[in-house]
Amino acid sequence: MRIRPMKQFMRALTPPPDKSITIRAAVMGWLASGKTTIVNPLISGDTVSAFDAVAALGAEIEVKNGAFVITGGRSIDGNVDAGNSATTLRLLAGATAGKDKTVTFTGDDSLKRRDMGAVIDVLRRMGADITGKNGRLPITVKGAVLNGIDFCPDKPSAQVKGAVLLAGLNAEGRTTVTEEIRTRTHTEDMLALFGADIKVEGGRIELYKSKLSGTLIDVPGDMSSAAYPIALALNKGYCYLKNVGLTRRELIDFLVSIGGDIEVESKGDRADITVKKSTLAPFTISGALSAALIDELPLLAVLACFTGGKCVIKDAGGLKNKECDRIKCTVANLRGMGAEIEALPDGFMIAGTGIKGGNALSYGDHRIAMSMAVANALSACGGNIDDEKCVEISYPSFWELFE
Ligand code: S3P
Repeated sequence: MRIRPMKQFMRALTPPPDKSITIRAAVMGWLASGKTTIVNPLISGDTVSAFDAVAALGAEIEVKNGAFVITGGRSIDGNVDAGNSATTLRLLAGATAGKDKTVTFTGDDSLKRRDMGAVIDVLRRMGADITGKNGRLPITVKGAVLNGIDFCPDKPSAQVKGAVLLAGLNAEGRTTVTEEIRTRTHTEDMLALFGADIKVEGGRIELYKSKLSGTLIDVPGDMSSAAYPIALALNKGYCYLKNVGLTRRELIDFLVSIGGDIEVESKGDRADITVKKSTLAPFTISGALSAALIDELPLLAVLACFTGGKCVIKDAGGLKNKECDRIKCTVANLRGMGAEIEALPDGFMIAGTGIKGGNALSYGDHRIAMSMAVANALSACGGNIDDEKCVEISYPSFWELFE
């Protein structure tokens, strides 16, 4: 795919529905008795993996007026191919650990390379029977009697937290998760909607064994996908984004703090957002903010190149265990495009001296492909992205932004 330098970006659009929420709705819809209606689900590579997975484990799924209706409450032995979706894999490993069934999980080549050690270790602490080699797929989860635990993660991960909470639904006694660095709250928020016995106070979540009941989930737009048109608008003009989920509003607050002209018209847990061309100041992202913006960091590294000053992104070691090593691959691409960027052990250091443009590799990773497409659009000369298909994992209509 050839990306030309963009002269102007002026759009009104609705970003794709939230991937994390759609996957959790599929998993909890399967666990819950009765019917769960998912309005405005994301239909993309990762969510198709999630729906196929829960169907393989006993869920019935129908499409009614564009909504997905899941009849849950039944579980069977099965083989699950989670495709590229680590969220599907980790959440289902937790959800199946205390069920009286045996499930073998595998995934695509990228997922097979990723380290699942953290989720396997903590589920084993709860009593889970998981076999697999070196923390890599394939793994087999054989239902076992689970006990609740008090879990204080040493590295932030919403997926591992989600796995523990879903396992906690079938565990004896109390399960708590206490996060020093908070991660996205979709699992705990949605468990409450499905009727779980759960209490959240600050960074501490307390859960007791619970049965879920089907409910209605209306999925808002995905902030991580909205980030790409927002980045184009901040540099090249204007955009109006409808129905963006606000649970992860840290991106907006951060961009405003560095000079972004962004207006949020909020409607409860979602908002319409107006973004205008702005001058962004050099920045540092660290600590809790790095965890909150984890999926946006490669794109923020691109925006850093246009700030005219030195930027640092740190405390983001988790980037190394995503669909590719996002630190290494972002640095390799942006350097090849003429940017001044260094890899840090847990992030990047960037001199905001602009981007000339050039050919970029996706490494099969949707967020790298999309971030590098934006980099080329904002660059002086433009360039190619080797793989246009991988964006289907989260943002199937992404290339329309460049038409
Ligand atoms: C996700 C959590 C994040 C994020 C991923 C989706 C989720 O991973 O990178 O794309 O839906 O829970 P962590 O487990 O590292 O927080």
